[in-house]
Amino acid sequence: MDSIGPVELLHGEGAPGCPQEGLSCPSDSSELECLQQFMVTGAQLQQIQASLLGSMEQALRGQTSPAPAVRMLPTYVGSIPHGTEQGDFLVLELGATGASLRVLWVTLTGFEGHKIEPRSQEFVIPQEVMLGAGQQLFDFAAHCLSEFLDMHPVGKQSLQLGFSFSFPCHQTGLDRSTLISWTKGFRCSGVEGQDVVQLLRDAIQRQGAYSIDVVAVVNDTVGTMMGCEPGVGPCEVGLVVDTGTNACYMEEARHVAALDEDRGRVCVSVEWGSFSDDGALSPVLTTFDNALDHESLNPGAQRFEKMIGGLYLGELVRLVLAHLAQRGFLFGGCTSPALLSQGSILLEHVAEMEDPSAGAACARAILQDLGLSLETSDAELVQQVCAAVCTRAAQLCAAALAAVLSRLQHSREQQTFQISVATGGQVFERHPRFSSILQETVMLLVPECDVSFIPSVDGGGRGVAMVTAVAARLAAHRRLLEETLAPFRLNREQLAVVQAQMREAMAKGLRGEASSLRMLPTYVRAVPDGTERGDFLALDLGGTNFRVLLVRVATGGVQITSQIYSIPECVAQGSGQQLFDHIVDCIVDFQQKQGLSGQSLPLGFTFSFPCRQLGLDQSILLNWTKGFNASDCEGKDVVCLLREAIRRRQAVELNVVAIVNDTVGTMMSCGYEDPRCEIGLIVGTGTNACYMEELQNVASVAGDSGHMCINMEWGAFGDDGSLGMLSTHFDECVDQASINPGEQRFEKMISGMYLGEIVRHILLHLTSLGVLFRGQQTQHLQTRDIFKTKFLSEIESDSLALRQVRAILEDLGLPLTSDDALMVLEVCQAVSQRAARLCGAGVAAVVEKIRENRGLEKLTVSVGVDGTLYKLHPHFSSLVAATVQELAPCCAVTFLESEDGSGKGAALVTAVACRLAQTA
Ligand code: BG6
Ligand code: GLC
Ligand code: GLC
Repeated sequence: MDSIGPVELLHGEGAPGCPQEGLSCPSDSSELECLQQFMVTGAQLQQIQASLLGSMEQALRGQTSPAPAVRMLPTYVGSIPHGTEQGDFLVLELGATGASLRVLWVTLTGFEGHKIEPRSQEFVIPQEVMLGAGQQLFDFAAHCLSEFLDMHPVGKQSLQLGFSFSFPCHQTGLDRSTLISWTKGFRCSGVEGQDVVQLLRDAIQRQGAYSIDVVAVVNDTVGTMMGCEPGVGPCEVGLVVDTGTNACYMEEARHVAALDEDRGRVCVSVEWGSFSDDGALSPVLTTFDNALDHESLNPGAQRFEKMIGGLYLGELVRLVLAHLAQRGFLFGGCTSPALLSQGSILLEHVAEMEDPSAGAACARAILQDLGLSLETSDAELVQQVCAAVCTRAAQLCAAALAAVLSRLQHSREQQTFQISVATGGQVFERHPRFSSILQETVMLLVPECDVSFIPSVDGGGRGVAMVTAVAARLAAHRRLLEETLAPFRLNREQLAVVQAQMREAMAKGLRGEASSLRMLPTYVRAVPDGTERGDFLALDLGGTNFRVLLVRVATGGVQITSQIYSIPECVAQGSGQQLFDHIVDCIVDFQQKQGLSGQSLPLGFTFSFPCRQLGLDQSILLNWTKGFNASDCEGKDVVCLLREAIRRRQAVELNVVAIVNDTVGTMMSCGYEDPRCEIGLIVGTGTNACYMEELQNVASVAGDSGHMCINMEWGAFGDDGSLGMLSTHFDECVDQASINPGEQRFEKMISGMYLGEIVRHILLHLTSLGVLFRGQQTQHLQTRDIFKTKFLSEIESDSLALRQVRAILEDLGLPLTSDDALMVLEVCQAVSQRAARLCGAGVAAVVEKIRENRGLEKLTVSVGVDGTLYKLHPHFSSLVAATVQELAPCCAVTFLESEDGSGKGAALVTAVACRLAQTA
């Protein structure tokens, strides 16, 4: 024992013996005065309570300067047990009870009231291991586990272990926990600052005897709380007075600054052992406390714990007895080598000596063993010493518990409340008076709380198993989530195959052979040259909004006035007559509002559906897409349908000059600003692309020179089954439930109209596996289209905290935990990433085609892009660009977001047509 400072005073100057001069302890001239140092007043307790509460609140707020006197470490335990947890678990307890380590085999039955007694075995940790290299300690633990399993064979099942590690740790997950500092007589090198779960895993692997999965790590207070059967109130506090002392309790998550969470509760370990407010503690510290601190392994640390924890109570008693002997108040003034040696009086000795009936005899026997002979009155004084030390410990512990209870009362905003406190540790078990003093004092300090104390049955092992069960469930859920999302994670090879297939389909489509890509000629041969002038009307149908526009092309640039009109679903899916009548109504309304009635301005019509164009103003609708399904339109010329409606309405005849796809409108609109823009891309409600192809490659249009813009209608890519390899069960569900099953398969994997539905189907599946929403299907999740694509964009935004993700989902009527929210986020990411990568593979095919058409080594080209998904999603555009770069490294591709929508482009096509007509 290294004894320095005050300890030396107690040892005396020379060797132990008798009689000798006691060395001065200035404060006492009698034995009673010495004991009075251990008396704590009510006011002092209240001050400790208030000061600890202040420190707790400061730490919760995340205040760092001055450093709070307690740590308030969040654990990853978010709820008290359901009672439905079940399974067999291995539990390893390290650090709660002195130099011993315990291994347990706990069976949770899943039914309240039906308990199976755990099997357990205790191992003594050799002193040299407690103070040796960290690896040795963990190897010892792994060895104990094997020995236990050898002794208690449990069959060939997979072993899931909960690790109760009772030291201050920063947890970053249920199975990740970094040791901050050793306490309570442990000082193994190389462990502080390390993840203790990993150290244990490594040791188990080195041992090699059993394959054990370390699933969760918890503090002993948490195990104590989680294993408790609820009493009068819910059990939301765990109190341990074992070798050390500490408590945990359920705090409102929103009060814990260290967590990004504003709902629900989280268990916080107070780590009150380190509480050290000079103002509150100094008045109750004795010279014996200072001596004990000095001779400890961690002087200056854990000062509060050193007045309460079981490791220290015997030692305090020893120091007082030695002092009293040296002063001649005990043992005829004699000491003994044993009495002067650290650790010779243990907690169990104190408890036995204090016993009201057998205590005196015990004291005599115990002290005789230490080489002391007792005079008649000595036993009584020894008993008083024990009582003084333990009473103070219980009272201080009560003040600390009172602080926790007041904290609960504040955070729950309740005047009075009922609560159960689970208690554990050998001080409770071995020292019956400790518990009663603690309870009485708590009642005095927080009279408004109705507290019931519930002793833990098996030292918290059951609670650790509970947490392990939860952690094991979460780990299994994570595996299922990963399995579910794996098919959405496309690698480079898969994308290169998509690119190659797309190239082949393009070539076939252009040649007029069977292909899922129709490669439709648009009759747009030239981009605007800037000399176009005039006022034009434009219609824009097929995206999120139906718009009517007035576009003025003048010397200073293009000026647009537009109005959005809605197309109700019943109109989009009603009769064709109804749809076109509605369109004309909107045009008439717009003309009136703009003072254009009676004028017949040239009109460009953006019509974003697949059409076979026979000329710029002749366009046969091939089939509806994207939720439109108006009858009697497919196979008809859209311009004629519009003209017929005008006639029915007896409205002013419109001069329809050009009909364009939205991809073409977008390309033209961006091309007005950047002549390199030779590709149009839409990723919105639907998805599609157009580009400038060599006319000679277009079999269906005569002519060998110049270019023509080709509307690829790539949404239909894969409708011949070629995407089958990539299509998941969820894609099939979405396709089958759509109004056009089997069609637009590429679009259904990419565009905004479908991504939310894919997500919804995945969530339904994960719920049915019990992975999400506690396995409970809700009506909301069964509702088609509740997941708008804008939610994907919002949920995936980097600036959004997880709690905001939760808020969005809760607004949709999905009540969920943070774990659920995180999983939903991951589902959204997987789905949108696949979409962006597929879209990138498509663009890569197009740019490579243009490059090869022109025989260029390097192509520099721009893509005009529009669509709500592309524009609003936080990561979609960058992922498309990165994929193009990866798959088409010889092309320098710039993406330009269209500012004014395709309506402007349609007007420009019209303007070009008018210019050409005039010059002709
Ligand atoms: C705009 C057009 O360019 O983008 C629309 O003006 C087009 O007509 C749209 O369909 C695509 O985006 P969304 O998200 O509205 O389908
Ligand atoms: C010490 C540890 C703490 C533990 C307590 C009781 O104070 O730091 O984590 O809960 O002892 O064992
Ligand atoms: C659908 C349409 C297509 C349009 C695309 C984007 O795929 O069929 O014509 O370009 O959606 O709106």
